[in-house]
Amino acid sequence: MSECTFIILGASGDLAKRKLFPALYKLVRDQKIQRYAIIGAARDELTVDDIFARAEPFVGSIDKELWQSLIGKTSYIQIDFDDEQSFSRLASHVSTIEKKYGLAGNRLIYLATPSTFFCSLTHQIGKSGIASRNLPGSLTWQRLIYEKPFGLDEVSARQINECIHEWFDESQIYRVDHYLTKELVSSIVLIRFTNIIFEPLWNHKFIDYVQINLSETLALEGRGRYYDHYGVMRDIVQNHGLQLLSLVAMELPEKLDAAKIQNEKTKVLEKTRIDDGFLGQYQGYRDEIDVKKDSTMPTFACLKLSIDRPRWAGVPFFIKAGKRLERKDTSIHIKFKNVDCTLKESCVYESDYLTIQIDPDARFSLQLNTKLPESMYEVMPIQLVFNHDYALRTATPESYEILLEQIIKGDQSVSVRFDEIEHAWSIVDALQKLSLLSYDYQPLTQGPHEALAQFAQKYRIRWRV
Ligand code: BG6
Repeated sequence: MSECTFIILGASGDLAKRKLFPALYKLVRDQKIQRYAIIGAARDELTVDDIFARAEPFVGSIDKELWQSLIGKTSYIQIDFDDEQSFSRLASHVSTIEKKYGLAGNRLIYLATPSTFFCSLTHQIGKSGIASRNLPGSLTWQRLIYEKPFGLDEVSARQINECIHEWFDESQIYRVDHYLTKELVSSIVLIRFTNIIFEPLWNHKFIDYVQINLSETLALEGRGRYYDHYGVMRDIVQNHGLQLLSLVAMELPEKLDAAKIQNEKTKVLEKTRIDDGFLGQYQGYRDEIDVKKDSTMPTFACLKLSIDRPRWAGVPFFIKAGKRLERKDTSIHIKFKNVDCTLKESCVYESDYLTIQIDPDARFSLQLNTKLPESMYEVMPIQLVFNHDYALRTATPESYEILLEQIIKGDQSVSVRFDEIEHAWSIVDALQKLSLLSYDYQPLTQGPHEALAQFAQKYRIRWRV
């Protein structure tokens, strides 16, 4: 029987409300956890009812009775992140709660805060005994989850990592990127390496370019203080964007296990660099709460990257990411080369695309050509589609639900290894040297329209969404 005490630091924040409490509800609903207690802690003066009222709109359909039972098993403690006394109080509260519910002390501690707090919070957690280093033979476990982005740049990420290692073992540390537990993202490796039709074509001889989209309609949702320090490059590209790129580009791992996959992803990131691109900021960004009136922080990025490995010689990877765009679209488009022009005088055939659609729907599709009805030699593109929810008659589980479930099981594949993070920062840090141009764009459009069109022309590509 699985049991766990969930301790959420930053329980009053956006992540807790939007993702963590809804995920905890679903974990309980789906009986992935049987015995549990939830302890929220943050600097705000709040009640448990406040926390759940904020989270409720993000849950979808709710079984009221179950929701109430979750509320009943949750407590909240107001703490000061730098204050030792606060953490002693929290530590004794955790023990009291575990006694009350007869829990053995398996603890999952989620640091749902900006990474600037990771070092001091880890220190307080270790010092107060809320968690301690894994001891051989111990019957219980304590795991710490660090939300992305891990650091603000390569240097700060290293400092944080060293600081965490002063207190805890690597096996207890989860540097998470929730994209890795999205259904279609975790399928990428399997789609690539278990279907014989893809692997022989998955290289520069047959692939023209790869486009990765990470578009959101959402703006800052009250996260101005955080976002105005991070922007799209650190909030999305350094982690979600480069994780997707590394999964598409990696070599066949020796085995399908976390460490071997991480080895291959690291090799890709080590050889990836940004060659060109431009940035953008949506109009109205500077009027958002907690954003500087003269902020130049980008909310949009369009990048051309290259990977210096034989498989990808000359193949550009494009990442397009932004907030306040026309639609939510997280997708990867692999554009195959056109067929040779021997069949017809002019090459008018659409080329093939493999699209891995991650959000809002989980599906993948292959665009091929077929004969246009009532013509002899004309073709038209058609889509072969696999829609996850429809085909499997099951709702795609939420990524944070899977994330928590896997961490309870001790599965490190949902964690990003530090060397991956280091390389990803070095790719993003190098952007400073490129001095990319930045353009304003109108909210709820595709981004800086002119710049996108010129970029597409320059690299002879066609944007998919
Ligand atoms: C988070 C970013 O990591 O991902 C947010 O901090 C962003 O700014 C979110 O909105 C997007 O996640 P998803 O799962 O909705 O694509």
